[in-house]
Amino acid sequence: MSPKMFHLAWFLNQGWGPGQWQSTWRGQMGKEWYTGKAYIDLARRLESAGFDYLLIEDSNYTAEIYGGNRDAYLRAGYSTPKLDATVLAAAVAQHTSRLGIAATMSTTEWNPYMLARHMQSLDQISNGRAGWNIVTGGAKLSAANMGYDDRLPHAERYARADEFTDLVRKLWNTWEHDALITDLATKSLVDPDKVHSLDFEGQWFKSRGPLNTPPGPQLEPVITQAGSSPAGRAFGGKHADTILAGGGTIEQNREYLQHVRATAVENGRKATDVKVLFIVSPWLGDTEQEAQASFQRAEAARRDDPTTWLASTSAVTGVDFSTFDLDTPLGSFADEIDSEHVKSAIEQFRGQSDKTLRELSVLALGRRPMIGTPEQIADRMIEMNEAVDGDGYLFELNQATQFNARMLAEVIDGLVPELQSRGVVRTEYEFERFKDNLLAY
Ligand SMILES: Cc1cc2nc3c(=O)[nH]c(=O)nc-3n(C[C@H](O)[C@H](O)[C@H](O)COP(=O)(O)O)c2cc1C
Repeated sequence: MSPKMFHLAWFLNQGWGPGQWQSTWRGQMGKEWYTGKAYIDLARRLESAGFDYLLIEDSNYTAEIYGGNRDAYLRAGYSTPKLDATVLAAAVAQHTSRLGIAATMSTTEWNPYMLARHMQSLDQISNGRAGWNIVTGGAKLSAANMGYDDRLPHAERYARADEFTDLVRKLWNTWEHDALITDLATKSLVDPDKVHSLDFEGQWFKSRGPLNTPPGPQLEPVITQAGSSPAGRAFGGKHADTILAGGGTIEQNREYLQHVRATAVENGRKATDVKVLFIVSPWLGDTEQEAQASFQRAEAARRDDPTTWLASTSAVTGVDFSTFDLDTPLGSFADEIDSEHVKSAIEQFRGQSDKTLRELSVLALGRRPMIGTPEQIADRMIEMNEAVDGDGYLFELNQATQFNARMLAEVIDGLVPELQSRGVVRTEYEFERFKDNLLAY
C-alpha cells in the first residue's frame, strides 16, 4: 500500500526580523530584512513547492532575562528588532495566491474585537488564506509592555484564551454569510437583517457587536496553535484547525495525536478536522557524510559558544542561565522551577541533572535530528508519518536563528521534489483557500 499524503508548513521562528544576518549564507538579511523582501521570496518558494502554510512567529517584548539585561539579545538581534507579523502577512498575501499565511497574535496582548476584524481583513486581502496562530503570551516583559503588573498564571491564561477565542469566533459570525448583497436596485450594499449584535459578556471580555468587517472567503480564518501542556492540548483540540507539536518518539507522537483527536471529538468535531504537524529540522547534504560533517560543524560552533542558545532559552524559560557554570552538571534545578512561563520549555531540562549546560546546548541542536541526503530524510519522514498516523510536518530550520538561503534551497530544491516523487506531498494546490487545502487529505 502506498504511504498516505501529508501536509507541509514552514515556521519563521523569529518572526519578521533580521534572521541569520551573521551567517555565511546571509544574503542581504543584515541590511534588508525590514523590507520583508527575503520573507516574500521565502513565501513564493514555499508556494512553488506546494506548502500548506507559512507560520509567522511574533512576540511583543525585548528580552532581558539572560544576564539580567538586554545586551545579548540586542547584539545578536534575537527577538528584537522584530516587525509586526500581521503586516508581513498582508505583504505576503499580495505576492502569493495559494499559500496559507498564519500570523501570530496573542490573546493576552490583543483585544478580541480588533483581532477579529484584523483577521477578516487578512482573509479578504489574501482571498481566503488567513490563519491566526493563537498564543497566550507568557512573557512577563510583554505583560509589562501592555500595562499589566504581572502576567496571568498559566491555567488562567488558557481559560482566558478560550473565552477570547469563543468571542472572536462569535464576532466572525455576527454577519450572515450572504449579508453583503451589493444590490443597486434596492440601494442596499448590505442586508441589515443579516447583521446582528452579539452582546457577549463573559468572565473577562464584553463585546456588543456586530463586527464592522464582513467575513472573508473562509468565513472563519484557519486557527493554528502550539501548546503542549495539558491545558494547551485541550485548547488546541477544541479550537485549532492545525496544531504544531515538538517532535518526540514515535510513541509520544502517537499518544499526542490520539489525545488531540479525542479532544476534538469531545468538542463535537471530527478527528480529521485538526491537522497535527510535527516539527522537523532536517540537516541535508549531497551525501550522508557531508550532512553529518555540516551538522558536526554546527555542534562544534554551539559547543564553543552557546551564548545565543542560552540567551534564547533564558527568554523562553524565564531562567537566567548566565548565572550557571557552563561545565557543571545541572543538578535538580529543573525540578525546583514552578514555571508560569512556557511550561514545555522547562520540560526539556527534566531528568537531565547529570548534564552540563554546554552539553545540553549541543543536544538541543540535535533534538529533532534528521541528518542525511534528501532521499534518506524523505524515507525517515514517510516512515515516521506512517508509524504515528500523522498529518505532516512543520519545518523549523535551526532553532535559535532561523534559516538561511542555502538551507531553504536544500529543502525546496532537494527534499521536497524527493517527497513529491514518492507521492506523499502535493505537486499542485487543489483549492484556492487555506482551509480547503488543509482539509483536502
Ligand atoms: C511551532 C511553535 C510556534 C510558536 N509560536 C509562538 C509565537 O509566535 N509567539 C509566542 O509567544 N509563542 C509561540 N510559541 C509558544 C506556544 O504558543 C506555547 O506557549 C508553547 O508551545 C508552550 O505551550 P504550553 O504553555 O502549553 O506548554 C510557539 C510554539 C511552537 C512549538
